[in-house]
Amino acid sequence: MARIRHIGRRRIHLAATDSTNSRAAELVRDPAHAGTVVTANHQLQGRGQYGRTWESPPGVNVLLSALLFPPEELRRPAVLTAFAAVAVAETILHATGRQSSIKWPNDLLIDRAKACGILIECGASGNRPGTEETIAPHAIVGIGLNVNQSAGDFARAGLPDATSLSVAAGRLHDVKGITELLIEKLDVEYDRLLNGNLADLEARWASRVGLLGRPASAELMDGTEVRGHLTAMSLGGLTLMREDGKSRHLQPEEVRHLHLIGDRRG
Ligand code: BTN
Repeated sequence: MARIRHIGRRRIHLAATDSTNSRAAELVRDPAHAGTVVTANHQLQGRGQYGRTWESPPGVNVLLSALLFPPEELRRPAVLTAFAAVAVAETILHATGRQSSIKWPNDLLIDRAKACGILIECGASGNRPGTEETIAPHAIVGIGLNVNQSAGDFARAGLPDATSLSVAAGRLHDVKGITELLIEKLDVEYDRLLNGNLADLEARWASRVGLLGRPASAELMDGTEVRGHLTAMSLGGLTLMREDGKSRHLQPEEVRHLHLIGDRRG
């Protein structure tokens, strides 16, 4: 096994919990927990993006949260999401031989179906209410990676657009082994980031989003839509050249979804 430098030096595994992100959040007062990974066989109140729930049957998928105290230049949801997404894509490739794509901003797709969701929860510095105890700025990187759910399981759960490593590869996987692999990939990618390799991450992330030069539609957080050719994309945002010849730059935080025009799944 590779030497772990940051993420996964400490592990907490739970048979069942409400949410691994909530368990990781309880550790923020102790900087010694930087890089601690919390995993669970089962979550009773798993959280997804935009206040949604994240449902997963017991024991068949990876449910993981990593607590990080990133330096200021990395403390941006766009960067942390991209680093986690690239680590998951590398895990999928290593485990199944399959390439995945990143659906802006937080999903990993295999064969255009969702195999993984990422939830980044950031916390500012401050004092614990009523105490002198300080809390450093932190981020919790929550990852739900579908490993052994079958196509039938997804259909019964009303999730026809979901997939798993086993569906993609045609065989079951060892969930513990996939968890180890994911922790290793997260650690490698985070180490690169800490060493200043943001441009390298950005390039690998952008190639997996894969929409550059194509007609795309950005759904914005305020409910409006911007359509145009995607002329630039970076962790600092994206630029769409609209039909009227005007270009529009959007910050990552403004964009809720980005997809190919005519393909709401991709
Ligand atoms: C999404 O909506 O796509 C994001 C889903 C994130 C789910 C993971 S499972 C582990 C961690 N704990 C949670 O409560 N949520 C994240």
